[in-house]
Amino acid sequence: MRRINLGLIGWGTVGTGVTKILEDKEISGALTARLGAEIFLKKVADIDITTPRDCSIPKDRLTKNAEEILSDPEIDIVIELIGGIEPALTFILKAIDEGKNVVTANKALLSQHGIKIFDKAKEKGVNVGFEASVGGGIPIIRAITQGLIGNKISSIYGIINGTANYILTRMSDEKKGFDEVLKEAQALGYAEADPAYDIKGIDTAHKLAILTTLGFGARISLDKIYTEGIDRITLLDLAFAKELGYKIKLLALAKVDQDGLEVRVHPTMIPIDSLLSSVDGVYNAIYIIAGYTGPTMFYGQGAGQLPTANAVLSDIVDIAQNILSSAPGKGMTMAHKILNLSEKAIKPIDKIISAYYLRFSAMDRPGVLSAIAGILGQHSISIESVIQKGRGEKAGVPIIMMTHEALESDMQKALSEIGNLPMVVDRPLCIRMENLPS
Ligand code: HSE
Repeated sequence: MRRINLGLIGWGTVGTGVTKILEDKEISGALTARLGAEIFLKKVADIDITTPRDCSIPKDRLTKNAEEILSDPEIDIVIELIGGIEPALTFILKAIDEGKNVVTANKALLSQHGIKIFDKAKEKGVNVGFEASVGGGIPIIRAITQGLIGNKISSIYGIINGTANYILTRMSDEKKGFDEVLKEAQALGYAEADPAYDIKGIDTAHKLAILTTLGFGARISLDKIYTEGIDRITLLDLAFAKELGYKIKLLALAKVDQDGLEVRVHPTMIPIDSLLSSVDGVYNAIYIIAGYTGPTMFYGQGAGQLPTANAVLSDIVDIAQNILSSAPGKGMTMAHKILNLSEKAIKPIDKIISAYYLRFSAMDRPGVLSAIAGILGQHSISIESVIQKGRGEKAGVPIIMMTHEALESDMQKALSEIGNLPMVVDRPLCIRMENLPS
């Protein structure tokens, strides 16, 4: 029977998940029957091949040297799961140069060097699968590039970082501190090697760049995506949000209007009865509005060993089918073809219009509220409601304001002036609001 030989580079959380699934006899038996070929893990490379993993790869198939995979002419598909830019980029380009197909979960790499990788893959007539790069176990790449292909997408809203969503959910539900829940997310294998990528919204921006490229047929320059993380969100904000009928989520958003394409990542207040607000813990969801389908929502575990490994496996099987149909390259995925498009301009953040939640920490003195409201008014920002709780605390009392829609540049100017008021004791916090459908 024909064998499809795999070489896995990176035997960490997700890599181990792939080896575990491949050892599941029921799954591998079914795949062999469906493909008419055996999927065989010929070699696994990692800098650490001694730490015990919960699977039983024979020692002679382990190596510390990725070259053994890249230069093995029998290996058909290289699976890159080391993450980061280098040496992942070099390994992937070398694999493609050797005529091998590639599967990767590397969103950081694809969002910055995707075009180079896909151009080379096209030249060599091989495939690059990247289902695992966005949404963990949710088959969102296939949904956009196949399921919704006959549609014109107008908006994509996503909760696409499991770690950040886990942190916000645990803080809100359990009143636990930020650092404590971050440690839990790390222990569960959700967080990036550097968790700042999760917390500061960088990982979300990487994934949003990929979704926007596929959904809007636009090459997106990562540095044009406005990105703000969840590190300034406190238990107080989560409690006020609940009281006001909202939830705070790290939202990825891409939408088109007559003025262009908006692509941004930031903590966002969304109505508590919206579909996305019920997406909690490590779960991710991508809510897409398109011309013919209307809204669709894709939901599932967005991080974690086995959901992400399943996505890797789906690419392996897809590519194996191409290899077996003896049309490598011709079977180039739709995702792959879409990527050959031109760069699109993104609306700068200071041009967006949004309603805002504002939190000020100010001394409890007469005239504070009118000073803040006065500055907002001078910048054409209209207040919808105000809450002040607590009395006389030296460290300042929280003042919460909700505004009507305003221009971002006006809001930033007003916040900078308010932050300079002598009675305002901390940098004001602003959270943009998004009126998502329920
Ligand atoms: N650190 C990522 C997350 C892993 O938490 O979503 C999945 O991409």
